[in-house]
Amino acid sequence: MSRKPFIAGNWKMNMTVATGTKLIEELKPIVKEAKCDIALCVPAILIPAMVKAAKGSRIKIGAQNVHFADHGAFTGEISADMLKDYGIKFVIIGHSERRQYFGENNDTVNQRTLAALKAELTPIVCIGESLSERDGGKTEEVLTRQLEFGLHGVEDVKNVVIAYEPVWAIGTGKTATDEQAQETIKFIRKKLSKMFTVKDANRVRILYGGSMNAGNCKGLMAQPDIDGGLIGGASLKTDFAKIVNFNK
Ligand code: PGA
Repeated sequence: MSRKPFIAGNWKMNMTVATGTKLIEELKPIVKEAKCDIALCVPAILIPAMVKAAKGSRIKIGAQNVHFADHGAFTGEISADMLKDYGIKFVIIGHSERRQYFGENNDTVNQRTLAALKAELTPIVCIGESLSERDGGKTEEVLTRQLEFGLHGVEDVKNVVIAYEPVWAIGTGKTATDEQAQETIKFIRKKLSKMFTVKDANRVRILYGGSMNAGNCKGLMAQPDIDGGLIGGASLKTDFAKIVNFNK
């Protein structure tokens, strides 16, 4: 089954209106012919300006989080409707930095994922093991728990994008090898086929994330179960276009 490749950038807490607009202007002409879907998940306050900058191009602007309630007393949070006001389609959920620094857990990931789906947003649900979990042989156990809790109650899993991001590879320059990433993502797809159906699992796009860059993207993208990338550091420069054009 063919799945359309998807390259998503995660700007994290970087860029301003000026620097973000400049980068998008530079990227626009060089990603025009790309064969994949392209998103840049930007800080919430930059969404209006970046949507304007990316208008008419192949780049879709995404968000980095969404709250599970429709509205209410949740200081500092952003609802699905607020994102939809700007035509946002993609939203990252459960990034390891949010799990590590902001108390995100499999339960809140689940609630946010269900809220995103209800609002017809596409959640990019992040999962991944730490170095000690990998070294302790616990990778599959951790991923199973993240998938079973995180996707509990999801009816149409083909509307979900999964990002497999080994925590030890994020921002460290240590990428998983092509084989490690393929093997783990194959496990994730097998797990999804048990939780849902083989047919639906084969339709889910699973991205690799963690120090993916212009140099290593070709090898990773050549793996049969890897459908794209979630790119942090390398999405802050025009090198992002080289990843988007991985098959050129
Ligand atoms: P990195 O980040 O590409 O800088 O390692 C990836 C991510 O955290 O999504």
